[in-house]
Amino acid sequence: MAPGSYIKIADEYKSFTLDHFCVPKHYEEDLEDIMIPWGLIQDRIERLARDIFQSVKDQPLTAVCILKGGYRFFTDLLDKLTALNRAHGHVSVPITIDFIRLKSYENDASSGEIRIVGGDSLSSIAGRNILVVEDIIDTGRTMIKLLELLAEHKPASVKVASLLVKRRAGQGVTFRPDYCGFEIPDKFVVGYALDYNEYFRDLNHICVINNAGKEKYRQTATK
Ligand code: IMP
Repeated sequence: MAPGSYIKIADEYKSFTLDHFCVPKHYEEDLEDIMIPWGLIQDRIERLARDIFQSVKDQPLTAVCILKGGYRFFTDLLDKLTALNRAHGHVSVPITIDFIRLKSYENDASSGEIRIVGGDSLSSIAGRNILVVEDIIDTGRTMIKLLELLAEHKPASVKVASLLVKRRAGQGVTFRPDYCGFEIPDKFVVGYALDYNEYFRDLNHICVINNAGKEKYRQTATK
């Protein structure tokens, strides 16, 4: 499978019920179902790591984690890449890491505003091959803004790995990353570090939040 391919989860896909897998007791009432179990996420990341490894070969790579939602994908992807580095023998990819924090969401809707609220100085990316590691692309605005920002610091190249891409109702996919785990229906998902107002990051599977969950953890706009 070539880089750029992905697993498509259809709109009519029958997700798993909560009693098929283990979820923390404190979230049992807040979830509709399990869209992507943790084990499947791991298996898919293993393949993404192989695709990345094969395309970068021995070129040094700076992997940039988009906090906070990307942190689990980032650590699992890096674990798998470094395992390939150890095992391959003939070729290995020298990897450095960096972190960026962006904020774009209020409850389950894009606020339309993207802010950098933390992270290292971007000047260090000049001349480097960058791999941006993101949790999910929805409207694509965050990624487009971030790529503009990175370009100002003159990296040698920039590729994007996103675990999820959302198929937006009436619009389809607005931004296609170079490496993508799953294309998912237009639903708000949580778990595997994806949050709803900071909740659900401590859930392993990628799940669909239900209305009770949205109500329980709703946040009134204060920012
Ligand atoms: P975009 O700018 O609309 O593409 O939004 C991207 C960002 O919004 C992601 O990095 C997530 O932080 C957040 N986001 C979008 N959809 C979801 C979702 O279904 N669950 C949790 N966060 C989401």
